[in-house]
Amino acid sequence: MTSALKIGVFGASRGVSLAFGARANGMKITALCDQNEDLLRRANKHLGGTCQTFTDYSKMLETDIDAVLLANYATEHVWAAVEALAADKHVMSECMACFTLAEAVQLVEAVEKSDKIYMLAENYPFFAQNQEMKRLFDSGKYGKFIYGECEYVHPIPAKGMVSLYSGMDHWRSWLPSTYYCTHSMGPIMYITGTRPTTVNGFIFPYDYDDPLMTNSLRQGDSGAMLVCKMDNESVVKLLPWNNLRDHGQRCRICCNRGTMEYTQGDPRLRLHTEPFDFPDEPRNNEWYQPNFPLEHREALRHGHGGGDYFTSFYFAQAIRTGIQPFLDVYRAIDMTIIGILGYRSALENSTTFTIPDFRQREIRDQYRHDDWNPNPRLHRLGMPLPSVRGKITPSAAAMELFAAERAAFDQKIREESK
Ligand SMILES: NC(=O)c1ccc[n+]([C@@H]2O[C@H](COP(=O)([O-])OP(=O)(O)OC[C@H]3O[C@@H](n4cnc5c(N)ncnc54)[C@H](O)[C@@H]3O)[C@@H](O)[C@H]2O)c1
Repeated sequence: MTSALKIGVFGASRGVSLAFGARANGMKITALCDQNEDLLRRANKHLGGTCQTFTDYSKMLETDIDAVLLANYATEHVWAAVEALAADKHVMSECMACFTLAEAVQLVEAVEKSDKIYMLAENYPFFAQNQEMKRLFDSGKYGKFIYGECEYVHPIPAKGMVSLYSGMDHWRSWLPSTYYCTHSMGPIMYITGTRPTTVNGFIFPYDYDDPLMTNSLRQGDSGAMLVCKMDNESVVKLLPWNNLRDHGQRCRICCNRGTMEYTQGDPRLRLHTEPFDFPDEPRNNEWYQPNFPLEHREALRHGHGGGDYFTSFYFAQAIRTGIQPFLDVYRAIDMTIIGILGYRSALENSTTFTIPDFRQREIRDQYRHDDWNPNPRLHRLGMPLPSVRGKITPSAAAMELFAAERAAFDQKIREESK
């Protein structure tokens, strides 16, 4: 392909960061869509004011864009992906890939039916430390993957939350913590090449003594832990999004010849081997700050540890070569549905759930109509609530705080959009 790929961005908040990543990789942002017209105008301004703007997604799909970047609500990516694929557009979708198992089937089949690229814009695998761990793991020196840990901890004060949710119906107000799991499972799958086969979920219930919860509109729990078995018999422990007081990412890959890890707030990687395994090694415990294996200077300019650059890098590469990327629809679903089934597990005394492999067509029929989900707006008999404690109603004080702060935030966006 010689001319620049033309891109439409759906969702004018996070979508702006995705647009910058796409631009840095030679793509041209020609269209933007959001129902919030202030956000839409502000995003267009940030991008130089040259985009066609839309409040209606299907109208944006009628333009001559080659691909869409989906940064709409986290729980609503599948319908937008399916429409885009049907309109002959490549798709890069923000996380999560799907919200129910029925949607997972629908998404896989839409991608298989089209000849377009689908990629999950899961950016955490592309932190410099994660890419370095992949390089070292692939070298074989550390041996077989036995045990891994990965954490995405992100406590947000109630005041900060107002810019992230628009009210009680917004997904950030109610989504169970287990669902936001691709930032923790993504790096493990990328580094080791394994896929989850089972999940057990554990919830940290809504903490009535935590002002981050009680001053906010949060109707879900404080956090969660997922334990997965992987297809090589290894075991993985994950902390998907939660409110613990230790903001950042942490990842640990333990193999049968050594361990690699990094922790919150430290750009260095720690490598450890034992002298009895490597008697000739001068140092068995080493700390260093790795560079990105490629595009180092450019990646440093982008958010989420450079991850926002590499998602577009691999999306563009996939479109150019016609080969689905590593973060293809199957892996996107594997790393997303551990969160759905992890919540189901937590509600059933943390019992083990098998992770269906939707690469296998015969498995899909069992899940085709499985719309089990915790969205309070869709609640009916047999559906779960967002918290293991049952219905959580934010206090009047939290509602008032939200209303005041949100009005100020909306006003700020309006000013910035002019
Ligand atoms: N990978 C990361 O590091 C990262 C970081 C932040 C957000 N995200 C993801 O990005 C996505 C967007 O998150 P966000 O933080 O921007 O918040 P958000 O969910 O509030 O933003 C969604 C935007 O889409 C618009 N929208 C939704 N449905 C629409 C429709 N039918 N028509 C027109 N506009 C519509 C909304 O008005 C809103 O502005 C989510 O999937 C989230 O998980 C990823």
